[in-house]
Amino acid sequence: MSLFTLQKSASSCQARRGELQLPRATVQTPAFMPVGTQGTVKAMTFDEVWELGYRLILGNTYHLYLRPGSERVARFGGLPKFIGWDGAMLTDSGGYQVFSLKDLRKITEEGVTFRSTLDGSKHLFSPERVMEIEHELGADIIMAFDECPPYPATWQYTKDSLDRTLRWEERCLARHNALGGDSTGHLLFGIVQGGSYDDLRAQSALAVSAMDFPGIAIGGVSVGEPVEEMRRITALTTPLLPAHKPRYLMGVGTPSDLLDGIYYGIDMFDCVLPTRMARNGALYTSQGRINISNARWTDEAGPIDPECDCKVCRLHSAAYLRHLHQSKEILYSRLATYHNLAYYAKVMEGARAAIEQDTFPEYRRACYATWGLALP
Ligand code: GUN
Ligand code: ZN
Repeated sequence: MSLFTLQKSASSCQARRGELQLPRATVQTPAFMPVGTQGTVKAMTFDEVWELGYRLILGNTYHLYLRPGSERVARFGGLPKFIGWDGAMLTDSGGYQVFSLKDLRKITEEGVTFRSTLDGSKHLFSPERVMEIEHELGADIIMAFDECPPYPATWQYTKDSLDRTLRWEERCLARHNALGGDSTGHLLFGIVQGGSYDDLRAQSALAVSAMDFPGIAIGGVSVGEPVEEMRRITALTTPLLPAHKPRYLMGVGTPSDLLDGIYYGIDMFDCVLPTRMARNGALYTSQGRINISNARWTDEAGPIDPECDCKVCRLHSAAYLRHLHQSKEILYSRLATYHNLAYYAKVMEGARAAIEQDTFPEYRRACYATWGLALP
């Protein structure tokens, strides 16, 4: 059985409809993955994540290695079992978290030495070590150890970083294969880097495509660059990737970013936005993003999104959500996160249906219009 089945390709853009057959679950693509950094999609129970239709969630190697420890997780039978999640998981490699540590880390050819943000202890993440940790965590998809260069970065820095990342990816593959390879049920995905330089993106895309990865991610986007830059990089990279492998745009994004990515041929996304923004008072709705702390919601008897049929919108008024938010009640975070994840699920479900009917560009245009955004 193959990992990825392409079911339909759009006729007037790069959008694709597919199915990912992972060891723990089958995932309809394009798919959005909620982020569960610490082994929890913050404020949600796993039956809620499941009932919203999500079958694939993300965990972070960096956080789970430091606490509770990947060896401990392995003794519990791996991350999905440890946390009580019946679906599939993906672990990011720490190649993003570690690089955001700034003063607490040092990069060499061997890997990255860093100090724990928990207790100051010293650790080395090398490609080999990260593969061992990710095998212990035991997700369905494990990500290669890469460097995500900052934005902006010079061409020379980005080139040196990219060349090192390609060597690290070869080392990841070697250790992954020594640990049993993809047949262990942990599928290793490669990552394209190259910053905002077209030539480096192309070099990276071709090199990673030539390696034996069952899926390929585009990293180094959504790092502070303008949104047009992210669209340009995505549009330039996806045509260089093999059509039969799933493509994952890392750390993206807003609802409109997801539709842009799909338009350019992306199959998978992850982002903290729906969960983090919910806790901060920002809700994604069919009318665009709203802020629940705004006084306009104080006496609103209707739901936060009149077009949403999620259980929060069916049961509760915007005025009640605002009251919970202003009172800093725990329930606010639960209800707001549930709605945002429901809205993201709905946008993605609409996108998949539109690709099936070959009307994805029209769907994207209609969504942009309801959000009050100009189509790029
Ligand atoms: N998450 C968001 N961007 C990146 C990236 O470039 N690399 C990795 N490993 N994770 C990411
Ligand atoms: Zn809702």
